[in-house]
Amino acid sequence: MKILMVCLGNICRSPLAEGILQHKANAAGFNWEVNSAGTGNYHIGEAPHILSQKVALMHGIDISQHKARQFVANDMLIYDLIYAMDNDNYKAIAQISKKNFDAQKTELIMNVLFPNTHTEVPDPWFGTEPDFIKVYQMLDAATDAIIEKYSNK
Ligand code: 4NP
Repeated sequence: MKILMVCLGNICRSPLAEGILQHKANAAGFNWEVNSAGTGNYHIGEAPHILSQKVALMHGIDISQHKARQFVANDMLIYDLIYAMDNDNYKAIAQISKKNFDAQKTELIMNVLFPNTHTEVPDPWFGTEPDFIKVYQMLDAATDAIIEKYSNK
C-alpha cells in the first residue's frame, strides 16, 4: 500500500506524519510505502523544520533526509490513501488533482481517529517546541488508528 501525507509546506506536519507512520508500519511488518508532499511550493527541496526533526528524533525517528516537494495531480493516481492535515490542505488537494480527485482515498488524517469531526492538525509554522510536540502527539494517535484500521483487514 502506498500512503501520502499532505500539508501546506511539506516541512512541518506531513514529514512528521510520514516518518511516524512509516516507522510504525515497518514495526508491524506491513509492506507500506509512506511519503509526503505539500500543496504549496514555498519550501521545495528543503529539509524538514528543525523542530519537526527534533521531536521525531526524541522518538527515535530520523526524518532529516526528507526533501520537500509539491503535491501534483498524478499523486492522486499513484497513492492508495492520501491524508490531509487540515481542511485547506484537503481543498487544495482537490483543486490540484482536478479530474483525478478521488474522495474515496482522500481523508483528513484526524478523521481516522475522530470520524466526521474534521479536526485539524494545527500549523506549527509560527509556533515553538510545545506546538511541534502537540502536532507529534496528534499524529502519533492518528497513525495508531491507521495501523489499527488496516490491521483488522
Ligand atoms: P507545514 O507548515 O504545512 O506543516 O509544512 C508550514 C510550513 C511553511 C509555511 C506554512 C506552513 N509557510 O507559510 O511558509
